[in-house]
Amino acid sequence: MPMKFSCKNEPGVMGRIEKCLSHIRRETSFEPEILLILGTGLGNLAKRVKEEKVFSYGELPHFPHTTVKSHSGNLILGELSGKKVAVMEGRYHFYEGYSLEEVTFPVRVLRQLGAKTLVVSNAAGGLNLGYRKGEIVLITDHINFMGVNPLIGPNEDKLGSRFPDMCEPYSNRLIELAAQAAKEVKVPVSRGVYVGVTGPCLETRAEYRMMRNFGADLVGMSTVPEVIVAAHMGMEVLGVSVVTDACDPDHLEPCNIEEIIKTANEAGSKLDKLIGAAIAKF
Ligand code: HPA
Repeated sequence: MPMKFSCKNEPGVMGRIEKCLSHIRRETSFEPEILLILGTGLGNLAKRVKEEKVFSYGELPHFPHTTVKSHSGNLILGELSGKKVAVMEGRYHFYEGYSLEEVTFPVRVLRQLGAKTLVVSNAAGGLNLGYRKGEIVLITDHINFMGVNPLIGPNEDKLGSRFPDMCEPYSNRLIELAAQAAKEVKVPVSRGVYVGVTGPCLETRAEYRMMRNFGADLVGMSTVPEVIVAAHMGMEVLGVSVVTDACDPDHLEPCNIEEIIKTANEAGSKLDKLIGAAIAKF
């Protein structure tokens, strides 16, 4: 018996994308080149955008509503560093109960609106003990340890191929441009591999040990689904993490989410500088 993915009367994912796009296009003819998704505690960059149009997520058809307190939930269209950008102030997480199709829906809509590049930031745990708290890391690759994939289900050929290639989901070109920008604005950056988990609980010491042995440098509860969907649609991606806590299995301290958000907020201005300078070069 094949699995059933939608009812006859419900629009499929293309229909939902079209409905959301029509709503946006009725309000503005703005076409972004770059989509920026701002992670937990890293939303300040949105304030630097010269706004053309702001939508609250609630008014956008088929956009889920955010529930995480540290996220606001606005889609901002405007100009940043001379580029036409769309900024997602607040993102959706799998652990909140959204499906991965919901988590990644905005990326699909913004790609159809014109964005060919995705810049995604997140707060992440530092598995690599060479990292310090507040350090900024350019993501070179990821490990999907969520046990799910946003592309499961019938493939939408209009968006991308059934078996998308993942040989360079994080663009080496954008990593090099970001590294150059980082030097110019004097923000030190490292590089590393991000492992995506579902959360919401933090990892055990044994899990941290395993992830380090897998070859991961960073761990977090986001990013991987959005990047998979972006790769499916052929977008160029830059991913940037802020290290908020040390995942040291031999000296693990109880996690403090307020502390994590505080660290992300403190590092946020460095990240804003870096992303602002990097996208000017894209
Ligand atoms: N694990 C998962 N997600 C996180 C962590 C962590 O240690 N720190 C910040 N986000």
